Amino acid sequence: MSKKGWIVILLIVVIAAGWGIGKYTAPSAAPDSGASASQAPQLEDGQAPADPAQGGGTVDVPSPEASQPAESAASPEETPQPSTEPSEAPAAAPGGGGAVETAAEPDSLTVLVNKQYKLPDNYKPEDLVYPDVPFIFSEKIEKRMMRETAAHALEELFAAAKQDGVNLAGVSAYRSQSTQTVLFNNYVKRDGEEKARTYSAVPGHSEHQTGLAIDVSGSDGKCAAESCFAGTKEAEWLAQHVQEHGFIIRFLEGKESITGYKYEPWHIRYVGKEIAEEVMSKGITLEEYYDAIPVSN
Ligand code: DAL
Ligand code: ZN
Repeated sequence: MSKKGWIVILLIVVIAAGWGIGKYTAPSAAPDSGASASQAPQLEDGQAPADPAQGGGTVDVPSPEASQPAESAASPEETPQPSTEPSEAPAAAPGGGGAVETAAEPDSLTVLVNKQYKLPDNYKPEDLVYPDVPFIFSEKIEKRMMRETAAHALEELFAAAKQDGVNLAGVSAYRSQSTQTVLFNNYVKRDGEEKARTYSAVPGHSEHQTGLAIDVSGSDGKCAAESCFAGTKEAEWLAQHVQEHGFIIRFLEGKESITGYKYEPWHIRYVGKEIAEEVMSKGITLEEYYDAIPVSN
């Protein structure tokens, strides 16, 4: 064959090899591709974009996974994708101006975790169990877990509600720091950091990471972790009875400048009966109970 012929063959071989390599090394289109349930950003805690109370309605993200019906596919949260996590942790300064401190006793059932007090990095409680109560999803996954004492108290609470004709369901309980990171960053992408911080905790600052908090809805999952949950019979029942089982409504209406978060009638936090009775009967926040500084925004 002529020299020209050899060059043409060589060129064909080089182009073909390049195509083959590219095919197997090209990045996937979405950071969380590969898991069908992870096609959408993970969102939670009542931030449905169409929720007028949240001032949304124009953003192009799906409703929070929390509002999906129980029979829906595995929630995106089931398979957190490390590739969607940020390379840098977001700033953690409280809005109140005080310096961030690390909770000295993160395993305490009465630990204060808020915008000022964070958990030690990647803290994970050692006694997480699955409470024997219904959730709005069926999978046995991380967000179904709570610390043992809180889990038993939750079982009692759900049973008492049922006796009163109120059927409750869990929406989201324990969240690891990495899951909170994915959630928080998705909210920041959607709403910007300032707004996200009014309803979602900066990673390391969420009570969900303690295993002592859970978002609760009615068993139909309607308004799960959304502002339309306020005023439902389930919300009313929770507001009247959680303290009898050692829980408090953590983020009260009218106390946003103290807790630093919007009203969340669905987010209950185990603190034990004594503190719960005092906090709920006085209508105060855990910050006020501990005489801690307000942590607005
Ligand atoms: N929605 C509450 C504040 C959390 O993210 O922990
Ligand atoms: Zn919550």
